[in-house]
Amino acid sequence: MAYIVMEPCIECKYTDCVEVCPVDCFHEGPNFLVIDPEVCIDCGVCEPECPTNAIVDAAAAPAGQERYVELNAKYAKLWPVITDKREPLPDAERWSTVAEKSAELKL
Ligand code: SF4
Ligand code: F3S
Repeated sequence: MAYIVMEPCIECKYTDCVEVCPVDCFHEGPNFLVIDPEVCIDCGVCEPECPTNAIVDAAAAPAGQERYVELNAKYAKLWPVITDKREPLPDAERWSTVAEKSAELKL
């Protein structure tokens, strides 16, 4: 099973994960990134790089985050690939401390 991006990425998009991924499997939406499960090689190097701890092995998705498994797979087919690190979103620091922000997700 591939790795996934979960709720803590929303409104942050630090993109440190993009820089370390060896196979370009990140795709970018307006305020969230997803991982293409068909491209991810399960190397795990992106997981410790995320400042918000938004990345996890899909098989170990914590309670309440299960919907992100399907969401990553679906939007990886719709959103463009991102291969370079960018500036985080303007209010990333504030949003990084907000636990419940799924309502902010722009699809
Ligand atoms: Fe890329 Fe490896 Fe992370 Fe998969 S686990 S998204 S291949 S860095
Ligand atoms: Fe998001 Fe973390 Fe990557 S905030 S863009 S999953 S480094």
